[in-house]
Amino acid sequence: MSAYDVIVIGSGPGGYVAAIRCAQHGLKTACVEGRGTLGGTCLNVGCIPSKALLHASHMLHEAEHNFAKMGLKGKSPSVDWEQMLSYKEETISSNTKGVEFLFKKNKIDWLKGWGSIPAPGQVKVGNDTHRTKNIIIATGSVPSSLPGIEIDEKTVVTSTGALTLPKIPKKMVVIGAGVIGLELGSVYSRLGSEVTVIEYLDQITPGLDSDVQKTFQRTLKKQGLKFIMGAAVASVEKIKTKARVSYVMRKDDSEHQIDTDIVLVATGRRTFTDGLELDALGVTVSERGQIITNDQWRTSIAGIYAIGDAIEGPMLAHKAEDEGMAAADIIAGKHGHVNYGTIPGVIYTHPEVANVGMTEDSLKQKGRAYKAGKFMFMGNGRAKANFAADGFVKLLADANTDRILGAHIIGPSAGDLIHEICVAMEFGASAEDLALTCHAHPTYSEAVREAALACGMGPIHS
Ligand code: NAI
Repeated sequence: MSAYDVIVIGSGPGGYVAAIRCAQHGLKTACVEGRGTLGGTCLNVGCIPSKALLHASHMLHEAEHNFAKMGLKGKSPSVDWEQMLSYKEETISSNTKGVEFLFKKNKIDWLKGWGSIPAPGQVKVGNDTHRTKNIIIATGSVPSSLPGIEIDEKTVVTSTGALTLPKIPKKMVVIGAGVIGLELGSVYSRLGSEVTVIEYLDQITPGLDSDVQKTFQRTLKKQGLKFIMGAAVASVEKIKTKARVSYVMRKDDSEHQIDTDIVLVATGRRTFTDGLELDALGVTVSERGQIITNDQWRTSIAGIYAIGDAIEGPMLAHKAEDEGMAAADIIAGKHGHVNYGTIPGVIYTHPEVANVGMTEDSLKQKGRAYKAGKFMFMGNGRAKANFAADGFVKLLADANTDRILGAHIIGPSAGDLIHEICVAMEFGASAEDLALTCHAHPTYSEAVREAALACGMGPIHS
């Protein structure tokens, strides 16, 4: 029985980052992972593989729609799906091997197998029980389905199955217009599938700024995605190799059906803590199964911490990473902190969508006096040159102090542009601070400056 300072359970972005940070603090660290490779959902069946397919399908879109306009003539590329999948697999493996390398470099033991916690200070993996002073639970989440829908990962798939379809479907129905549905729906739409998204609510991407929601849906429609809004999916019936999706329109209770080759169920994810034996241990969990922690990521049991999708908050890899680092710092006796007000959210479609801080809707609800500075990418030289002028940057600032309260971007490289605003918010900057900062020309980031100018003197290019 070996003794550790810390055993992290789960090697996703929360777990592996926590393990590395613990090792950097000089703590003897192990990480338990039952999957054949490190990196969790994000690297194996989530963020990384989906980004490979988003990139490849975007390249195809560029070739089909924009190459000729730039004077690049020739036959449009055709899709070799097998090759695209192996490009995706190579992307996964270079990333998972990268984590394995980092574990070796930092002398972190990989305990292979599924872990459980028989008692505080103990982690069992297979037949071995390891002693440890601290445990960090970083077991993540899994796709959640709906009653009446049986997932087989062949015809009725979650994001996991959607990344390994044997062929590009003619028709795909996506249930849920959230992040996963729209990212993967975009991939297959660009590859030629007829994609229909069925969404319960009247807007896509719940929680996003409503201005962004409208522009985003309009842009996706232009790209060929179809939307059935305000519709509750009641059941999915398999008919040989196809599926029939039944849904009820909320406005009049009318019942409808749609036949399809593939159904992607993208109605959310649930915390995964199966097999940990939390009940027997007495770890407090919420009604939704999320582990309850205090502001130091400590659970109800001393010496056991929890982070990432296993606890409450947005299910985002970078939120898990930050919590992992902070929990490791606390275990090492240092100060650990996460500023939840500046965690960005990004949807990796084209155009990308990114947000941080408060939405205009929530500011209105709170009755807070604010100003909104908006700049359309149509006025940005670089975006026009690159056929990427759809969308805008919207900056929200306090009406009296000019302090930045939030930002909402739909447009090229939105997922990168958002970070200068995150940094500005971390420093408590005003919109004027951003507006007075020189931004290189010609870059997309000038649109951020223009939005900041729009909160004051006014933008130059609109
Ligand atoms: P989601 O919660 O973002 O969206 C699910 C959607 O399904 C909602 O709009 C909901 O109204 C709809 N829905 C639920 N039941 C329905 C029904 N019966 N009929 C029709 N529509 C229904 O969930 P999603 O997209 O599955 O993502 C899960 C988690 O993974 C999220 O927390 C997301 O933030 C995270 N994620 C983040 C990514 C990123 O940051 N780029 C990428 C992938 C996932």
